Amino acid sequence: MDFAAELKRHVARVEAGLDRLLPAATTRPARLHEAMRYSLLGGGKRLRPVLTLATAELFGNEVFDALPAAIAIECIHTYSLIHDDLPCMDNDDLRRGRPTAHKQFDEATALLAGDALLTEAFIILSENYAGNPTLAHALTRELAAAAGSRRLIGGQMEDLLAEKKSDATAAGLEFIHLNKTAAMIEASLVLGGLCGRERPGRVIEALRTVGRHLGLAFQIIDDVLDATASTAALGKTAGKDAKADKTTFVKLHGLDASRRLAGEHTTAALGALKALPGDQAFLIALVESMASRAS
Ligand code: IPE
Ligand code: IPE
Ligand code: MG
Ligand code: MG
Ligand code: MG
Repeated sequence: MDFAAELKRHVARVEAGLDRLLPAATTRPARLHEAMRYSLLGGGKRLRPVLTLATAELFGNEVFDALPAAIAIECIHTYSLIHDDLPCMDNDDLRRGRPTAHKQFDEATALLAGDALLTEAFIILSENYAGNPTLAHALTRELAAAAGSRRLIGGQMEDLLAEKKSDATAAGLEFIHLNKTAAMIEASLVLGGLCGRERPGRVIEALRTVGRHLGLAFQIIDDVLDATASTAALGKTAGKDAKADKTTFVKLHGLDASRRLAGEHTTAALGALKALPGDQAFLIALVESMASRAS
């Protein structure tokens, strides 16, 4: 397995899918659709949609086309970044190496572009899986739950509530990471599993375990990189967690323990992955590459 070539193949599918499935920039109102496409098409690692596509292929060829599900995930992820960067949240100027949506356009346009991407995700699911109502229902339910108030939004809420908190606990921090980040990574794998198998059954629970550990490792490393990497390398402002006095792994546990904990979650994710049926070589290499990422 040539990891770089496989990654390139998946990312190319994602980039083409984003362009094809999103409304054209000239769609009225053009300013809104330009902003949606600006944030969505301007870079990003595409980890989540690649996870969806690779998981769908885990068991052989996809039973159902996983690309629309992968694009729906990236729409929700990108909306969460647009809102995360707003002045009322993390107040960031730089994202994916470019000005954030509210800097490039304005706050109201950024807010609306985020709203629209969230809704667009469900338009994409409903239109592209209409021929299979059982699958459409399963995908919609999974994605809505991951993006909802008990998971992604709930994690974001507690992230903000935990700013400048002197009595934050490890359990409180785990709630934040599990929900603001791991939920969508878990959903990325689950959506792939739903598209890749006629009867995904028990495989789904194993995919959840992989996603939970990968998601925790991913956000711990994000915290570490915020404290150690450069703005140029990250394509987003470095050092902003300490400045905002966020409750992060680095603040609570220190750099060394954070790196160790990220390693433990990576190992757990790999263990669960290797227990799955199918050819996991690409996913194993992807999880390993995420553990040593520099951005
Ligand atoms: C950033 O996610 C937000 C977190 C959950 C840490 P990514 O690091 O995947 O951002 P992009 O999509 O590559 O820009
Ligand atoms: C954000 O976590 C997670 C989201 C759900 C957007 P961060 O606030 O740490 O993400 P970055 O560092 O701005 O990408
Ligand atoms: Mg944030
Ligand atoms: Mg942020
Ligand atoms: Mg961060």
